[in-house]
Amino acid sequence: MASVIIREPEHSDRSGLIAVYGSEGFFDYSPSRLDLEIVAATVDAYLIEFVSAPASIIFYVADLNSELAGFSIARKTAQATWEVQAGVHFDHRKQGIGTALLAKVFTQVHSRGPAVCEAIVHAGNLGSIKMVSPFFQEHGEFEGLPGFLRFRSSW
Ligand SMILES: CC(C)(COP(=O)(O)OP(=O)(O)OC[C@H]1O[C@@H](n2cnc3c(N)ncnc32)[C@H](O)[C@@H]1OP(=O)(O)O)[C@@H](O)C(=O)NCCC(=O)NCCS
Repeated sequence: MASVIIREPEHSDRSGLIAVYGSEGFFDYSPSRLDLEIVAATVDAYLIEFVSAPASIIFYVADLNSELAGFSIARKTAQATWEVQAGVHFDHRKQGIGTALLAKVFTQVHSRGPAVCEAIVHAGNLGSIKMVSPFFQEHGEFEGLPGFLRFRSSW
């Protein structure tokens, strides 16, 4: 694996996070393709939530020689379920960075007590399926969104 540091995000990571979302193929398997304005607003919301409501969000970034290579986020929904997502810049994929980011999020999620954890992934998103599978106990069709799978664990 590339030599990366997985750490908590800082406000100065904003442009790097936006660049990850903007990198090639990021939204290939998403239900919708977000424009730059919405991506920036989403990143801002996550960074604000990380500071103002740390009980409901777990957030890590991958720092590769001072370049922001990816992120992982778990957010607690109203149903007390952690929803997990991760993204890695196109230039740095398939080097184990996504797996390292998820491992860090899962260590933290487990440390916060009994919970349900989920990830929703398009059935054609082979990279993501391969990345998330080792972290979840089960998966099946996601009835809420045709063509998507729901990975799930509880403890
Ligand atoms: C999904 C994503 C985060 C994976 O990041 P990554 O850093 O490339 O993941 P890893 O390098 O840890 O790869 C994990 C495994 O998947 C495999 N893999 C990664 N991308 C793949 C692809 N496109 N096709 C097939 N296998 C792939 C890797 O080879 C690795 O397998 P291994 O454990 O046998 O070596 C990245 O492709 C991405 O950001 N995609 C766009 C956003 C997205 O779909 N996010 C997922 C929502 S949860």
